[in-house]
Amino acid sequence: MAKPIVDSEYLKEIDKARRELRALISNKNCAPIMLRLAWHDAGTYDVNTNTGGPNGSIRNEDEYTHGANNGLKIAIDFCERVKSKCPKITYADLYQLAGVVAVEITGGPIISFVPGRKDSKISPKEGRLPDAKKGVPHLKDIFYRMGLSDKDIVALSGGHTLGRAHPERSGFDGPWTAEPLKFDNSYFVELLKGESDGLLKLPTDIALLDDPEFRGYVEVYAKDEDAFFRDYAESHNKLSELGFNPT
Ligand code: HEM
Repeated sequence: MAKPIVDSEYLKEIDKARRELRALISNKNCAPIMLRLAWHDAGTYDVNTNTGGPNGSIRNEDEYTHGANNGLKIAIDFCERVKSKCPKITYADLYQLAGVVAVEITGGPIISFVPGRKDSKISPKEGRLPDAKKGVPHLKDIFYRMGLSDKDIVALSGGHTLGRAHPERSGFDGPWTAEPLKFDNSYFVELLKGESDGLLKLPTDIALLDDPEFRGYVEVYAKDEDAFFRDYAESHNKLSELGFNPT
């Protein structure tokens, strides 16, 4: 694991922020939207130009108003409460820590977190995040642009074990699993089952069954929750460190 590149005072602030986030997330039941915030801050990364990524830029109005980010102002405002108590922590670290804590306190794997990300005021142009209405080639284009792999795409899609879609935010409706506040492998179990009453499958979720490489991972994760947790923790850690090279 990478060594922290920050001083001991900053590490203390991280510990405090971790505690504050645990309390906030369990109090507000907001793990899903905190995870989505962390992912949308990081998921703009472009490996070729080394732009975007987990740099806190989603707090800029011109970025959180992108269509893909509808609703995320709620999570940005929740994080602001923690920032006011732990002012030293960067937004970039705070949002990624929120994602890590969200997974942890809903029963998911422990994800290693290395602090030291820098904030940016520069937001990428709209259009770097995936479009839920599209299929396999689009998913690969978007995630390969971040420098991520097929395995990362499937493991990270398992994030939809948490939360739900809201018609007024995305036009889609409903949760992916029967227990949207529990992080487990039920997203993959439901995906293989096909249509179930009241549960959502986005076109990009169904795409995971269309590609043989993707499908292999879906089948493993549906059968073996430990394998999913191991791969998820690794892929989430990669996502949270795109463009950030702690040494
Ligand atoms: C919610 C699309 C990947 C975590 C959503 C929603 C859409 C969406 C349309 C509904 C938003 C709403 O109406 O509130 C996609 C697409 C992806 C993707 C196209 C491409 C693979 C991911 C990844 C993660 C993630 C990689 C995390 C690792 C979440 C969570 C929610 C969510 C937790 C629920 C938010 C809530 O309950 O408020 N996603 N997503 N998604 N997404 Fe994704």
